[in-house]
Parts: sequence; C-alpha cells; structure tokens
Amino acid sequence: MKILVTGGAGYIGSHTLIELYKAGHEAVVIDNLCNSSSESLRRVGLITGAKIPFFKVDIRDSKGLDGVFDTHPDFDCCIHFAGLKAVGESVSKPLEYYENNINGTLVLLDSMRRHGVKNIIFSSSATVYGNPAVIPITEKCPKGECTNPYGQTKSMLEQVLTDLQKSDPEWNVVLLRYFNPIGAHESGMIGENPNGIPNNLMPYITQVAVGKRKELGVFGKDYDTPDGTGVRDYIHVVDLARGHVCALKAITGKCGLAIYNLGTGHGYSVLDIVNTFQRVNGVTVPYSIKPRRPGDIATCYSDPAKAYRELGWKAQFGIEEMCRDSWNWQKKNPNGFEGE
Ligand code: NAD
Ligand code: WQD
Repeated sequence: MKILVTGGAGYIGSHTLIELYKAGHEAVVIDNLCNSSSESLRRVGLITGAKIPFFKVDIRDSKGLDGVFDTHPDFDCCIHFAGLKAVGESVSKPLEYYENNINGTLVLLDSMRRHGVKNIIFSSSATVYGNPAVIPITEKCPKGECTNPYGQTKSMLEQVLTDLQKSDPEWNVVLLRYFNPIGAHESGMIGENPNGIPNNLMPYITQVAVGKRKELGVFGKDYDTPDGTGVRDYIHVVDLARGHVCALKAITGKCGLAIYNLGTGHGYSVLDIVNTFQRVNGVTVPYSIKPRRPGDIATCYSDPAKAYRELGWKAQFGIEEMCRDSWNWQKKNPNGFEGE
C-alpha cells in the first residue's frame, strides 16, 4: 500500500517507516520538523535503502497538503502521527496544543476527503482512559477524565474521527491507543530525541546514565503498587511500529471504526525500570524519591488481546530489550540527532 505518514520524522513515525518498508509498503512523509530533524529521515533511508519522499509541510497548511496530494494522488491510507505531545507544556500552552493538534487534524481530514483518501490510522493514547475504571484496560473500558490539554486533544480527536466515520461509512478509521513507548531501533541509529529536559521516564534515565543529568527524580513512592512507585505498560517502539503495519489489515478489511490498545499487557514500576536498566546495561542511574507528579495515576496497563485476536499483533520484545535498545541509542547519540 502507499501510505501518507504525517509526523514521520518523529520518534514513532521514523520507526514505523522502517516496518512499513520491511512489509513491502511505500510511504510519503510530511512533517514540519517542529519536534524532529530531517536527519532521522536520512538515517531511515540508510536503514531501509529506500528513498522516501519528504515534504516539509505543516498539517494546518491546506494548500501545502493539496500540493502533496496533487503530486501523489494514489494514497491508500494515512497514518497520522503529527502532533504536539508534551503533557506539562500543554498545561501552560493549551491554545497552542488545541490549535496544532485539533485544527491540524481537521485541516488534514478535510484535505484527505477532498482527495478521496478516506482511510486513517490515528495515534491515540492510553491517556484517554484517564484514571482507568478497570485494570488491565480493555478497549471496552470507558474513556475517563483527562487531566491535561494534551490528553483532551487525543480524546476529542477520537470523537471527531468517530463522528466522521459515522457520517460517511466510506471512511475506515483505526484508533490506536499507545501505552508507554520506549526503546529504539536495534541499529541505535534512530531513537527518541526530546527537546530540553525530558518529561518521560526512559529518556530521563538514559540522560542520567550518559552523564547529562545528575540524578533521576522518582515521582512518588507511596502509590498503592507493589513498591509504591507508578506502574506502566512500557512497549518497545519497534513493536508499536509493527502494530501500525498490522492495523493496515483492518483498513483493508473495511473495518469502519476500530479501536485497539497497543501495549504488552505487563505493568512495571519506576524502580523495576531503573533496576532493569542498570542490570542489563551495567551502568548506574542515581535517583532520589520526589513528591508525586500532579496528574499521575498509580497503575496503567493494557489488555492487548483484541489486537492479537483481530490483527494477529502481539508485542515481541520484553523490558530487558527495551532498556538495552534505549541505552544503545543514547550512548551512540549522546546529543540526539545533533551530533557531538
Ligand atoms: P514526536 O514529537 O517525536 O513526533 C511527532 C512529529 O509530528 C514530529 O516530528 C513533529 O515535528 C511533527 N509535527 C507536530 N506538529 C505538526 C504539524 N502541525 N504539522 C506537521 N508536523 C507536525 O512524537 P512521537 O512520540 O513520535 O508521537 C507520535 C504521535 O503519537 C503523536 O501524535 C503523539 O501524541 C502520539 N503518542 C505518543 C506517545 C509517546 O509516549 N511517545 C504515546 C501515545 C501517543
Ligand atoms: C512514567 C512513570 C512517572 C519521569 C505519558 C503521557 C501519556 C503518554 C506516555 C503520550 C510515571 C514516573 C517519570 C521522571 C518518574 N504520552 N516518572 N520520574 O506519565 O505514564 O505517560 O507518556 O500520549 O499520555 O501522560 O509516562 O514516562 O512520563 O512516566 O518517576 O522523571 O515514571 O511518575 O509513574 P506517563 P512517563
């Protein structure tokens, strides 16, 4: 299939490009590079041996999108990663988040519709479950209260896509709810490259391990979990990427609206991750216990059975491989894509 990949220069997008090409698909990337670098795409080219067309276009730019659709009138599907994703930043810049994520997706969808492309796979998030009503979380679990504008954009966009599909059954919409993606491609050539101080656990750990930050703050040790620290469903980004390739099966099968959790089904605590990272990589990660981070929940992990049942997708990598590959990327690229 020929896939339009928005946000393809980013962390999950770049890994997905590799899996798409491995499976025999082709892609065209659009990205405004607001949180990424074209160097990731150059490296994806080295890994795949493919010359992937790239347009530096903002998804809010209707004319720019038309140019892409005019040059490539034969897309079968769009995988839509483009969006802003920093939870804390979204609290201080709600308008920027709603404008970029919501307006951007509305402009994209309008452009797709005008060009007769009515298949989309959307990057949603476990954050739409809020403080989940049941654990492990199945797709039947009701959506919950999101504690930040970023999460609201995901929840609202799920609703927009659901309403769109309902209004016109020619649309096929797959909502993929990611749990906590970490890890990197085995080559160590691409990986997560956060701007500034990392918000997420694994990039913070790798930056401490590489000597860029002094110590990890563990946010809370008084949760109702086995060791008191927060429990999450970490998933290797390559498994997540493969989930998108499998989701194309739902599109081909004319799924209408389909929702899948992409997680491993296992929960690990912050200290499980720190300890595994140290053991597997033979490095030390100093840490100290800090107060809880506002908005955090105690436990969040998926029941990923539906994706296996309907798409034949299941995570292959375990927590040790996730820790190994995160470190492999960071130590080979201490300054991300910016070089030494
Ligand atoms: P990322 O920031 O690395 O990638 C997103 C890409 O979108 C970036 O390359 C950025 O430059 C681009 N972009 C942003 N706004 C754009 C716009 N208006 N026009 C064109 N390009 C734009 O993030 P990621 O971790 O790869 O996440 C991909 C998607 O998955 C996002 O939608 C994110 O919200 C979602 N998601 C991520 C996680 C996670 O933990 N990483 C979890 C759940 C869902
Ligand atoms: C994981 C655990 C923290 C950093 C976020 C978004 C979610 C999704 C994935 C996009 C928690 C603890 C963290 C640190 C710590 N993103 N932690 N010290 O919060 O589960 O999910 O990313 O959709 O929407 O909310 O991930 O990696 O930030 O935190 O102790 O420096 O690590 O408290 O228990 P989270 P995370």
